[in-house]
Amino acid sequence: MIGTGYVGLVTGTCFADIGNKVYCVDNDKSKISKLNSGKSTIYEPGLDEIILKNYNAKRLIFTSNLSLAVKNSDIIFICVGTPNKKGTQTVDLHYVFKAIKEVVKFSKNKKILITKSTVPVGTANEIEKILKNMKKKNFDVVSNPEFLREGEAIRDFKYPDRIIVGSNNNRTFKIMERLYQPLINKGAMFFKTSRRSAELIKYASNAFLATKITFINELANLCEKANINIEDVSLGMGSDVRIGSRFLRPGPAYGGSCFPKDTKGLISTGDKFNVNLSIVKTVVKSNQNRVHLHVKRIDKIIGKNFKNKKITFLGVTFKPNTDDMRDSTSLKMIPYVSKKEANVFYYDPTGEKKEFKNIRNCKFSKDIKIACKNADLIILHTEWEEFKSLDFQKLTKNKGVKIYDLRNLYTFSDMLRKKIKYYSIGRPNAN
Ligand code: UGA
Repeated sequence: MIGTGYVGLVTGTCFADIGNKVYCVDNDKSKISKLNSGKSTIYEPGLDEIILKNYNAKRLIFTSNLSLAVKNSDIIFICVGTPNKKGTQTVDLHYVFKAIKEVVKFSKNKKILITKSTVPVGTANEIEKILKNMKKKNFDVVSNPEFLREGEAIRDFKYPDRIIVGSNNNRTFKIMERLYQPLINKGAMFFKTSRRSAELIKYASNAFLATKITFINELANLCEKANINIEDVSLGMGSDVRIGSRFLRPGPAYGGSCFPKDTKGLISTGDKFNVNLSIVKTVVKSNQNRVHLHVKRIDKIIGKNFKNKKITFLGVTFKPNTDDMRDSTSLKMIPYVSKKEANVFYYDPTGEKKEFKNIRNCKFSKDIKIACKNADLIILHTEWEEFKSLDFQKLTKNKGVKIYDLRNLYTFSDMLRKKIKYYSIGRPNAN
């Protein structure tokens, strides 16, 4: 595995756990030394234990020695980052190409070279051109995209719905099938396709899921105005197997390291081929605008004067079971209320965030009770399990506390019984 970021570390560890000998390579020596002390460099529930188990069994090796790893491997996964180029929607592939050039330098015999990172259509062809220019013939280039969700990555690796392998070589398909056999035995579909299809399947899947979320978020806006419960609509629609019930939960707006980046990456692929992917473009715009609705709602809840009002955010990451802040809506909401001179507190199970260090009047507390004490408004931003059964009046010591629930963790009737002013997403009386 070249790169021990999220994809490389989880995938490498899980491949070791199903019996393979895996070298995880990274040129960041501090990462490698942390991993060699048996500790994970990322937050992912359950990962530490599997790392330690396979590290002790000597199936999982962490190293900065690329030559050693390449010489000892038959299959090489490229798992480096593929961010968007700064200020554009285009995917920056220079980490991928740099890794490929370094890997092939050390290789003597035939190897399978796989892109696991999310890469645009045509990348495998580009890699082949690089190999040709370097006069390297011993490589078979494959696309095998990952479908891991942060916070659920180990389960997603072990029980995938499908394994997508793009190749133009039958022998390679057989080797890949053998590698994934333990997962296929448990019911995963092994889908052989062209490399370009495999590359597009990854973007299409993420863009479709982002569309589903954005669709339900916009319907939630309608439900709020039309006195309808969005959860009934999600359930009613989702029970049609053609639609499916998952990813129909309304929320603050999708975030994270994948959907925002991959929707834009797909648009730029469309542009490259002169195809207007108008639906995906609208999804990106709608998702970006969504945060304005939430800040408007906060204005309505607090009224004109934010000064000396205590506003507490419960959870600030883009979703639970991760410490990832990338494209989290809290990054816009917290600076907004701080600018209005509210006293902002936040509590997150994964600790303090550097992103809020320089925000005025914004304090982190590792104790939820301190974060919530005397709060005027609690914003339930991320749906961690520990936020699902809170006694808000006891927690805040404020009978008049108001709740803005961005994840619909509570019911309106429960809150009404407790005489708590409660605002949620896409429900009757949500305003
Ligand atoms: C996503 C995909 O789900 C994975 O299949 C894929 O492998 C990964 O991107 C990637 O490309 O690496 P991830 O970003 O970890 O995984 O998180 P998701 O669980 O998909 O959630 C993404 C965002 O959508 C979050 O902000 C979440 O709160 C939001 N969401 C999700 C909703 O608002 N409603 C839903 O019903 C589901």
